[in-house]
Amino acid sequence: MKVKYSFNSFFYDLMGVFYFNREKYSPRAALLDFIPDSPIRVLDICAGTGTNSLVIAKSRKQVKVTALDLSGDMLKIADKKCQKAKIDNVELLAADACNICLPDNLFDVVLISLVLHEVESDVKKAILYEAKRVSKRNGCIIVVEWEQPKKFLQKIMFSTIKVMEPKGFTQFLHADLTAFFNKHCLITVKKQSCDYTQVLMLSKVEHQIVS
Ligand SMILES: C[S@@+](CC[C@H](N)C(=O)[O-])C[C@H]1O[C@@H](n2cnc3c(N)ncnc32)[C@H](O)[C@@H]1O
Repeated sequence: MKVKYSFNSFFYDLMGVFYFNREKYSPRAALLDFIPDSPIRVLDICAGTGTNSLVIAKSRKQVKVTALDLSGDMLKIADKKCQKAKIDNVELLAADACNICLPDNLFDVVLISLVLHEVESDVKKAILYEAKRVSKRNGCIIVVEWEQPKKFLQKIMFSTIKVMEPKGFTQFLHADLTAFFNKHCLITVKKQSCDYTQVLMLSKVEHQIVS
């Protein structure tokens, strides 16, 4: 898959400044509610400039985070941010999320943030397959996705996102994500609405049947 982030990498973190500047309602902060500070492993799939990985690593010191992305430019920025913040519990991995070069059942938490809306359906399928494969049986998958805001000003701000996103974005935005993940054998356990986004905690169907 062609990754278009070499140009965008310079500007990518500006999105946080405009859309996720209210910490209480930011999906970046909401993630922490799903991740305990214990010696667990987290995989941040399509980590981009590593914003989520850093948030997790900074406030969950016992957690070891692997930030995976295909774009060298995005990972370079993630690396600079880790160095600047003197973070040593994030490792960066240049890899394809559709074919992750890591063994099965390795991670307690797998994060897929702001990715699924912008990839083709075969890529969505491959990413979810890999997320399930590398996560532990009793592990969880956390998905952050865009959500249509209800407030007038946020609706106007959100229209900019809509313009920038690829074809198929609106359809995915209005899709029933619980049903979508069910089709991929994932159960939505929790959902939290944040500014412009929702954070979903998913579990593998097999885990639900056993417990
Ligand atoms: C919109 S950014 C999301 C970044 C980050 N997760 C966040 O929440 O801000 C999407 C990222 O997915 C990466 N990406 C797209 N396809 C990929 C693939 N097949 N394997 C690995 N990374 C991929 C891009 O390089 C980009 O950094």
